[in-house]
Amino acid sequence: MSTVLVTGGTGYIASHAVVTLIEQGFTPVLFDNLSNSKSLVVDRIEAITGVRPRFVEGDLSNIGLLESVFAEFKIDSVIHFAGLKAVGESVREAQRYYANNVAGTLALTQVMAAADCYSLVFSSSATVYGDPETVPITEDMPLSATNPYGRSKLMVEQILSDLAVSNENWRIALLRYFNPVGAHESGLIGEDPNGIPNNLLPYIAQVAVGKLECLSVFGGDYQTVDGTGVRDYIHVVDLVEAHVKALSALAPEHGCQAYNLGTGQGYSVLEVIKAFEQASGVEIPYKIVERRAGDIRASYASPENTASKLGWRARYDLAAMMRDHWCWQQRNPQGYEA
Ligand code: WQD
Repeated sequence: MSTVLVTGGTGYIASHAVVTLIEQGFTPVLFDNLSNSKSLVVDRIEAITGVRPRFVEGDLSNIGLLESVFAEFKIDSVIHFAGLKAVGESVREAQRYYANNVAGTLALTQVMAAADCYSLVFSSSATVYGDPETVPITEDMPLSATNPYGRSKLMVEQILSDLAVSNENWRIALLRYFNPVGAHESGLIGEDPNGIPNNLLPYIAQVAVGKLECLSVFGGDYQTVDGTGVRDYIHVVDLVEAHVKALSALAPEHGCQAYNLGTGQGYSVLEVIKAFEQASGVEIPYKIVERRAGDIRASYASPENTASKLGWRARYDLAAMMRDHWCWQQRNPQGYEA
């Protein structure tokens, strides 16, 4: 039974990965500082799978604790989700973002190497492509970042790529997420951001459930099908299944490889609103306002490299993403709050 350390394990995407890992016969060990998630998630994972995974509350800066986890659980590989991810917040709190996202990853890789564990799947982001010249986006396109969050992802990718050059034992997958949405079909786990959501889907879902009044659509004058921003939304269950594929495909001869995790299909904000209304039967009031600083016109993946190298393609369509996101929000109008 391969033991996988899942950092950020009680978070939105990581908790879905833990369910999939258990279902596929792995033994996950969750490590999380609960700065942006709740330990209740462990109960929900047990309710879904019938298995209660080990959970260690801790921060990546606590090297001693990390070392004790590797000693106690004989970790075979790591899926590294732990990180801060709000673009606007990263501009205001750059120090915290670099300390958490960059220094935290360095600490993790140091402890991994000392424990002779060199298999790592890293949660990266399509944000490393900056404002792409063309779409669809392929993994060989230029990388850039325009905010501390994006720069922290890019820095970590470069650090991990350098580790694989300096020590051939490292086998690393950099998974560049497009826009994860949706939830496990049970509605027991899902996205539960702190405070007012920055991202589109949790905001729409909170409008639908009556927690928020009206959605602001950031910009109606982009060169797109209807003037609103286009993104590649991917179901979180598709996303985490790709993680297990990437984990199983890690090999020393591959060194450090980057993979796009997207569907290859872009949808505009207005198309997403319509799809959510159809899935939920709830009208979403919105107003079109000025563009959000830092937003790009369009972003969607070329999924071909990932399909050929990992044998993975996204299966869920937009309707399923909206259905499952609504199911979670309806069952948990206040998120994980009791
Ligand atoms: C999607 C579309 C907005 C909110 C960011 C990060 C990325 C990743 C996902 C972490 C855009 C529009 C949004 C709203 C709106 N995060 N929008 N009103 O900006 O593509 O990506 O989150 O990994 O790294 O950059 O996602 O959901 O914020 O926006 O109109 O209230 O919805 O303009 O077109 P984004 P998003």
